[in-house]
Amino acid sequence: MDAALTAEVRSLLASARATLKELAEEGVEQFERRSDAAFDLHPRAEAQAALESDPARSQPARAVRTLDEVRLELGECTRCPLSEGRKQIVFGDGNPDAELMFIGEGPGEEEDLRGLPFVGRAGELLTQMIERGLEIPRSEVYICNIVKCRPPKNRTPHPDEIATCKPFLDGQIDAVRPRTIVALGRPATSLLLGRDVAISRVRGTWHEYRGIPLMPTFHPAFLLRQYTDANRSAVWEDLKAALARSRQ
Ligand code: URA
Repeated sequence: MDAALTAEVRSLLASARATLKELAEEGVEQFERRSDAAFDLHPRAEAQAALESDPARSQPARAVRTLDEVRLELGECTRCPLSEGRKQIVFGDGNPDAELMFIGEGPGEEEDLRGLPFVGRAGELLTQMIERGLEIPRSEVYICNIVKCRPPKNRTPHPDEIATCKPFLDGQIDAVRPRTIVALGRPATSLLLGRDVAISRVRGTWHEYRGIPLMPTFHPAFLLRQYTDANRSAVWEDLKAALARSRQ
């Protein structure tokens, strides 16, 4: 086995071990096999094809793209049906060198109109939590969503739509390379953890995505619907932990 393949196998084993440990911590004792496109991150054939065509194995690794390059590659995207109902693409907002990155679900009506993530009601709450709670300007963090186009009537994006948009989210993460990621709500958390999760079980616990510490928490829209002391203090604890980790 050549050195690159050995390193790849080691890294796959380490992430499998980490995932099993997380599952055990969440109380999972067994799981069923499922084939859900968005959450099945490494289907066998795909992983094999990626391995075989991986240019890094024969040539120097491809340079990480900048946010502008990722945006350019996205173009006026029509790769999935969400493009049909959008007014405009909502790519992301904030500091390209942010230490803290927030990832939500998808643009709502206001975001679709303005072309910016989290500028509606849920966005106002998120902005308040960042600026009044964490005491950092919103412009210092980076904010984006797992899908860049508004789903009709704000429905949850479908697995194929999420999967189609994922390379662009990964491009954003690689470009910003934040020290900590906060996943807002179940769809974002499930995508980044590679399995469907219950947000109430995983929030407040550390995970990892692309080698970056990941803190899942409740989505601000959920918080607006269930504005209880318990939910507010849970999110507050998660955000404080994320900020502290990003400053370590
Ligand atoms: N909800 C999200 O998940 N993202 C937004 O940009 C706005 C609301």
